[in-house]
Amino acid sequence: MSPFPSQLSGSTYHIITFGCQMNKSDSERVDGMLGALGGEAVATQDEADIIVFMTCCVREAADVRLYGQVASLKNSRALVVVGGCIGQRDGAELAAKMPHVGVVFGTHNLASLPALIMEALEAKDKKPVVEVISNKDATAFNRSPAGTDTPVTREHFWHAWLPIMTGCNNFCSYCVVPYVRGRERSMPFEEVLQESKRLVGDGVREITLLGQNVNAYGHDLYGGSRFAELLLAVGECGVERLRFVTSHPKDLTEDTIKAFAELPSLMPALHLPAQSGSNRILEAMNRRYTAEHYLHLVEQVRCASAAAGKEPVAFSTDIIVGYPGETEEDFEQTMALVKAVGFAQAFTFIYSMRSGTPAAELAAELADETPREMIQERFDRLVELVQESAWTFNQQFLGTEVLTLFEGASKRDSSVLAGRGPQNQTVHAPLPKGKSSADFVGELLPVRISEAKTWYLSGTL
Ligand code: 5AD
Ligand code: SF4
Repeated sequence: MSPFPSQLSGSTYHIITFGCQMNKSDSERVDGMLGALGGEAVATQDEADIIVFMTCCVREAADVRLYGQVASLKNSRALVVVGGCIGQRDGAELAAKMPHVGVVFGTHNLASLPALIMEALEAKDKKPVVEVISNKDATAFNRSPAGTDTPVTREHFWHAWLPIMTGCNNFCSYCVVPYVRGRERSMPFEEVLQESKRLVGDGVREITLLGQNVNAYGHDLYGGSRFAELLLAVGECGVERLRFVTSHPKDLTEDTIKAFAELPSLMPALHLPAQSGSNRILEAMNRRYTAEHYLHLVEQVRCASAAAGKEPVAFSTDIIVGYPGETEEDFEQTMALVKAVGFAQAFTFIYSMRSGTPAAELAAELADETPREMIQERFDRLVELVQESAWTFNQQFLGTEVLTLFEGASKRDSSVLAGRGPQNQTVHAPLPKGKSSADFVGELLPVRISEAKTWYLSGTL
């Protein structure tokens, strides 16, 4: 299968992944490719001959951390490899700043990684090997230019990430993604279907369709979104659980909402980034919807799903606090939106200025307008509200049976099994006496819930 059989045999590698699910998915492919070359995955970077960083530059903190972590490997004997968004954005510049880096590759160059690593290992001059295809030159969907046969080592045999589109055309004013990942590119419909069927045939029970702006799927290829149609087709190919991330509220169509009612395999969980509850800020962010429209969408999904007698839908979201010029009143509107929706989960971020984005100029202009401590204080209030909201959401499962897809033993306690319910909540159950946690990996079993906390449910099998 591999173009370089066994060329890494005897070598060890370790992959460090930052950022979103797209990177997690790409890391599974890096793992698969290095494994197919004969490399052995190890648990820590100290044991590794090759250290691969899959990077993120959405916020400054991750960016700074990556540069710090890579810089600290200056005297490492390992081959240091940098991919993902920072690889794509900084390419040769990164290699020039840190010549101890062995390979830099971009987001469109995943399939070249084996060749790049072999080149770096064989190079006598030890100059970094850099390959970054610019977004302009990457013409097609580029999940795996080598085709769907790029080896993948999935974290769980029963779960697969399936990237169906990459890039973003939205240009939210704070966000670097459209500049780094380029324009939207979709994987052809038939290929997604074939890949889904293949995954189901391999024993995958849950598929998560991935894209930076997943519900815009198809615009580039078919002149309009075919996302809802794709959901139905994939959801009917034998997969037991289907999920998708990340959706943009402006692209959430009626057909997709209907799928929550009609498609049994589509899990009752929708991640729908709101970013803010203030229409003034939403407009400044170039989000192209209002808080009222957002609430209307939530209501529509809830009603459609309830009318079909389905389980309650878990809404999750992303929220940015401290967008340039955000006032107390704007923030209060965000708090009101969070209260109104009753999110099961929310990822909260303090605004991070990213150079090259329209908001960065505004941020520089308004630098001292809202003191940092005030933004932090608002952020803390939001986090508290989100936690209350998650706790409240979980209470409704007390005394009910939650069908749980088990991942194995809990990381904290080997006598407890951990898995996920339909709403994607973590579910714990004590390991039955005389059984091994391995017996439950990938099993779908009901758990009777006796305890509902902010972060998890627990009960008995
Ligand atoms: N600052 C803070 N958060 C950001 N996000 C994207 N760009 C920024 C930024 N510059 C958040 C958004 C997005 C999530 C993936 O990251 O909430 O939905
Ligand atoms: Fe960034 Fe907005 Fe695109 Fe999401 S939709 S990736 S926040 S530009």
